[in-house]
Amino acid sequence: MLIIASANGAVGIEAAMQVLKNGGSAIDAVEAGIRLVEADPAERSVGYNGYPNILGQLELDASIMDGGKLNSGAVAIMRGFPYAISVARQVMDRKLPHVMLAGEGAERFAREIGAEQWASMLSDEVKAIWRKRLIDNSALLDVGDMDEDSPLLDAVTMATDPERVAGTVNFIAIDGKGDICSGVSTSGWAWKYPGRVGDSPIIGAGNYADNRYGACACTGMGEMAIRACTAYGLVSYLRAGLPIQVAGQKAMRDLRDLGGDFIGGMNLIALDRAGNHVGMTTRAGSTYIYQHPDMDQHGEIERRLVEIPARWAGEARQ
Ligand code: GLY
Repeated sequence: MLIIASANGAVGIEAAMQVLKNGGSAIDAVEAGIRLVEADPAERSVGYNGYPNILGQLELDASIMDGGKLNSGAVAIMRGFPYAISVARQVMDRKLPHVMLAGEGAERFAREIGAEQWASMLSDEVKAIWRKRLIDNSALLDVGDMDEDSPLLDAVTMATDPERVAGTVNFIAIDGKGDICSGVSTSGWAWKYPGRVGDSPIIGAGNYADNRYGACACTGMGEMAIRACTAYGLVSYLRAGLPIQVAGQKAMRDLRDLGGDFIGGMNLIALDRAGNHVGMTTRAGSTYIYQHPDMDQHGEIERRLVEIPARWAGEARQ
């Protein structure tokens, strides 16, 4: 048994390990761990109180993958339901002939299954931060007078700083039967264009698990993981017989090789079916966490650094 998670999973990893120790499945553990992050008001990139889109609306993305059956479920741009990972799990478990539901359809499904719905998804503090950031960029956007037709194209590239406002949580678990599950949940980029979907709900991009080889999950600038199919890419390197460290480095190099004007920070965590694990990052000092059943508390490890020079709107970033 083993759980690894992004460092912001610390509020949930002990509870997730307890699920495994009680005989629960990897899927149960991943869901339990991520729910605690989604409910944490201090976490600004996941669930309740995440930073909203440019219109001040919180839109959540999440996915879960069962590495035994290669089943998965996902939701995208869902509003009003804090436990996006649980709704994603239900998309998988209810045997819909679908893998992902988005927007109003995801919300309709969440209501239909009785998922917990909260009237307010943002604290006054986060609303004030959102408003201030728009006012600081008021040359680009009339904050006092936004409506359906307000032009957002320029504002969204300037008001969003991907180095500061991207987040997301990853959990990967191996249970007592050797089944692997990976889960990802996020509020996506802060101040994103309404309707923007990141890598987190896209199986193969931000999340992938296969009992035969291992699993990978990503945080950071999801557009890059979508373009490079990062999570599936890493697992396919494991499938080719490469050790986990080499598979991780190759997946990060695939990200580094991407062209284009919008390149930001990226991170991944991964494990192989034997329980060897790795964390990779473009940001020095970034960590991830892990827990075995004989540990009362999780451990924390520095991720391996792979430099990817950031570019934003064509400009190199410091
Ligand atoms: N990696 C999370 C996102 O880009 O939305």
